[in-house]
Amino acid sequence: MYSEKVMDHFSNPRNVGEIENASGTGTVGNAKCGDIMRMYLDIDNDTRVIKDCKFKTFGCGAAVATSSMATELVKGKTVEEALKVTNKAVMEALDGLPPVKVHCSLLAEEAIHAALWDYAEKNGIVIEGLEKPVNDIGEKEEEIEEVY
Ligand code: FES
Repeated sequence: MYSEKVMDHFSNPRNVGEIENASGTGTVGNAKCGDIMRMYLDIDNDTRVIKDCKFKTFGCGAAVATSSMATELVKGKTVEEALKVTNKAVMEALDGLPPVKVHCSLLAEEAIHAALWDYAEKNGIVIEGLEKPVNDIGEKEEEIEEVY
């Protein structure tokens, strides 16, 4: 049911933890399943490169695996490049997710966006293409179910 990569990231999640004095943090939940994710970003102010990224997920295995992969994918990228790390990109990097678990991958994408939004607000900057994140991704699930 799950790919080897999903099982690997679920069993050995990368970048679990917190970053003290993070440049940006974002917390997103899904009221439907009750899962919550918090993402921490350490961003270089001059280059806007994400130097470090950590997460904490109180959620299902697919949420853990997608957060783990998402942190690996955004590390070393600029904030603008990080916006391209969509839930679809994360799923592709994990060799797919079962259809019923696709919505779990939204948590990671939205939590990164929330952390970037926090960073932008703290620094009074605008990140082009970044939309205001939602606190509950349950609202976005219906859209995604139509897409996949
Ligand atoms: Fe809630 Fe997977 S079931 S994130």
